[in-house]
Amino acid sequence: MDTVQGKTAVITGGASGIGRATAHSLARRGAQVIVADIDATGAAAVASDIIGSGGSATGVRCDVGGESAFEELKAFALDAYGRVDIVMNNVGVLTRGLPDHIPVHEWQRVININLLSVVRSNDAFLPLLVEQGSGHIVNTASFAGLYTYAYDRLPYAASKAAIVQISEGLALYLRPKGIGVTLLCPGPVRTNIAASLPSGFGPATGTRGPGTQFGFLEPEVVGEQVADAIVDGTFWLPTDAQVRDVLVQRASDWDAFIDEKAREIASSD
Ligand SMILES: NC(=O)c1ccc[n+]([C@@H]2O[C@H](COP(=O)([O-])OP(=O)(O)OC[C@H]3O[C@@H](n4cnc5c(N)ncnc54)[C@H](O)[C@@H]3O)[C@@H](O)[C@H]2O)c1
Repeated sequence: MDTVQGKTAVITGGASGIGRATAHSLARRGAQVIVADIDATGAAAVASDIIGSGGSATGVRCDVGGESAFEELKAFALDAYGRVDIVMNNVGVLTRGLPDHIPVHEWQRVININLLSVVRSNDAFLPLLVEQGSGHIVNTASFAGLYTYAYDRLPYAASKAAIVQISEGLALYLRPKGIGVTLLCPGPVRTNIAASLPSGFGPATGTRGPGTQFGFLEPEVVGEQVADAIVDGTFWLPTDAQVRDVLVQRASDWDAFIDEKAREIASSD
């Protein structure tokens, strides 16, 4: 996509953090943005900020965990702007608990919101984009979907790893049809995501990040990275390029990588 000027973007989780920043970045570049979020007031506030800065946006309440959420979102977007060009599947919720303590219902909650939302989004929006022969999908995964640095968030990591695979498959399918796919893999970003943590399951666990080399980014930096990736047609968008070294290290000797991570965790307990 050479430019986002005049394009319509739908962003889930657009009321806060990375989604909010991306909404602003795309609007500054001339896109009209549907800010979709379970937090209706927050979505309306982001849209109002964008309009106040001279951009075009509409806020809408959308719970991506709902069966009909994306059909309704598509209808809303088409009604508001007549077309959809960019779909950013960005909602993610955290969980925490040891592997033998997280109950199945918590797996179901996280998989439904983080992963099946992407499936439902594809179900609603892919036929539209394929028929148009143009468009761009952004899926927000995480470093947690690329390698493992903690064992107390398996549903989150598994949902993000699945998003990595879905995105790669979609890129293979959609690139020849003129539709771009970006796999956004954020490292630490200063957002409100910790608010999505339920009280833990089982014994308390310490907070572990993806590595001390990764500092926190501001969401505005990530918003600009996403907008650039859409225009450049970039598939893999890690927010910090140092993550490549970690992946190379793991690919070189996966057993040694696990040993090292286990030592790190043991020494920080
Ligand atoms: N912040 C980080 O360090 C980090 C790191 C890696 C990946 N990510 C991913 O980035 C994405 C965005 O998260 P963020 O950090 O900006 O968090 P955030 O909490 O600031 O924003 C997430 C937004 O999603 C909304 N939301 C939650 N559940 C929803 C639902 N069921 N339906 C619709 N909206 C819902 C929230 O209301 C909130 O506005 C997530 O997928 C997250 O997993 C974040």
